[in-house]
Amino acid sequence: MTAALGVGMVGYAFMGAAHSQAWRNAHRFFDLPLTPRMAVLGGRTEDAVRAAAGRLGWADVETDWRRLVVRDDVDLVDIGTPGDTHAEIAIAALEAGKHVLCEKPLANTVAEAQAMAAAAAAHPELVAMTGFTYRRMPAIQLARRLVEQGRIGTVRHVRAQYLQDWLADERAPWVWRVDREQAGSGALGDVGAHVVDLAQFVTGESLTGVSAMLETFVRERPVPTSLHGLGGTVTPDSPLRPVTVDDAAAFLGRLSGGGMAVFEATRFAWGRRNQIRLEVNGSSGSLAFDLEDMNGLLFFDATEPAETAGFRRIDVTQPGHPYGGSWWPPGHALGYEHAFTHQVVDLVRGVAAHEHPAPTFADGLQVQRVLDAVERSAADDSRWAPVVAPA
Ligand SMILES: NC(=O)c1ccc[n+]([C@@H]2O[C@H](COP(=O)([O-])OP(=O)(O)OC[C@H]3O[C@@H](n4cnc5c(N)ncnc54)[C@H](O)[C@@H]3O)[C@@H](O)[C@H]2O)c1
Repeated sequence: MTAALGVGMVGYAFMGAAHSQAWRNAHRFFDLPLTPRMAVLGGRTEDAVRAAAGRLGWADVETDWRRLVVRDDVDLVDIGTPGDTHAEIAIAALEAGKHVLCEKPLANTVAEAQAMAAAAAAHPELVAMTGFTYRRMPAIQLARRLVEQGRIGTVRHVRAQYLQDWLADERAPWVWRVDREQAGSGALGDVGAHVVDLAQFVTGESLTGVSAMLETFVRERPVPTSLHGLGGTVTPDSPLRPVTVDDAAAFLGRLSGGGMAVFEATRFAWGRRNQIRLEVNGSSGSLAFDLEDMNGLLFFDATEPAETAGFRRIDVTQPGHPYGGSWWPPGHALGYEHAFTHQVVDLVRGVAAHEHPAPTFADGLQVQRVLDAVERSAADDSRWAPVVAPA
C-alpha cells in the first residue's frame, strides 16, 4: 500500500456521487503513487451529510467547509458545489496548504476565477485542477494525441455542441442552475464551458474572440417542493420564480491558429438528453466525437487514396489507448463515470510528481474569459468580442 492522500469533499449530490465513485475506485484499477483516503465529507445539514457519507464511503463529516479545509487529515479538497461557492472554498483550501480539485466552470465571474488562479500561482507546491471531466474520455484524449501528431494537419474548423433537454418543458422546476447568483450563467457556463474546454484542449489552441447570441426562452419557473436529479416536483399552484440566466447560447469563435469554431449549448434540444458532439476538420483530415458513442472516435485521413478513404470508427478501448488496459478487456465499453476516475488518476499522479495536471486553474480562468466574451458580445448585438488576454 502506498502512502495515503487524505481527501475532503464538499457537496454530495450529483458531482459528489460521481467524484466519490472515482475516489473509491481509482487506486483499485490504476497503479497510483498515493492511495486516496476518503477522510471527510462536507455539507450543511448534519443528518443529510451523515447519510450521504455512509452511502458514498466517507469516514467522517463536517457541516462547515471552513472546518473541513483546515483538518490535518485532509491533503486535498474536492469542491462539488454550485459556482457561487467555488472561489471562497478553493482559496481557503489553498491558503490552508491543501491541493484542490474544483468543479467547472471554475467560478461565476472572471474576477473570481482570477483570484483563484492567483491563489494557485502563489502556491506552486500545490495542485489546483479544474473539473473539465470530459477531457478524460479516452476518445477525447486520443483526438488530442492525433492532432498533436499532425494526423489532421492544421486545424481549420471546430464544430462543438452540448445539447440537453431537461428545461425544454416550460413547467420544469426552478433550480439553482437557472439562478445567475448561484450559477453565474445558464447553458453557457454549465454545458457550453465543457465544449469550449474540449475545443481548446483537442486543438491545443485558444479562442481569441467570439460573436454570440444568448436566449432565455422561459422567463419564470415553478419552485419545486422537493428536488431530485436535475429537477424536482412541482404542483399546479407552485409559486413562480424568475429565471435569470440564458437557456441557450450560440457563438462563433476564432482560434489562435487561425481556424474557425462554431458552438451551441442548450437545455432546449428535445430528445438530446446529454449529447456532446465535437468535430475538427484539419488540412489533412477530420476527427469527430459523439458522447452518445463515447467509446468510439471517427477519423478521416485525407492522405489515403480517395477510392477507399472514409470516416472510420476507432474503438478506443485497446490497451494502447489513453487509460486503456486498466479496466476491462478491449471492446468492453466504458461509461460516463469512468472519466471521473481518470480525472482522479491524473490528479493523484500530479500531486505525487509535484506537477500541475491540466486543466489547471489558469486553464479554468481562460475558459471563464471566453464565457465572459460570449456574454459581452451577446449583450452588444453579437458584436465581435475579443477574449481578453491575461494582463
Ligand atoms: N464535471 C462535470 O461534468 C459536471 C457535471 C455536473 C455538474 N458539474 C459542476 O459541479 C458543481 C456542482 O453541481 P452538481 O450538479 O453536483 O449540483 P447539485 O445541486 O447536484 O449538488 C450541489 C451540492 O452542493 C451542496 N452545497 C451547496 N451550497 C453549499 C455550501 N454553501 N456549503 C456546502 N455544500 C453546499 C449541496 O448541498 C449539494 O450537495 C457545479 O459547479 C457544476 O457546474 C460538473
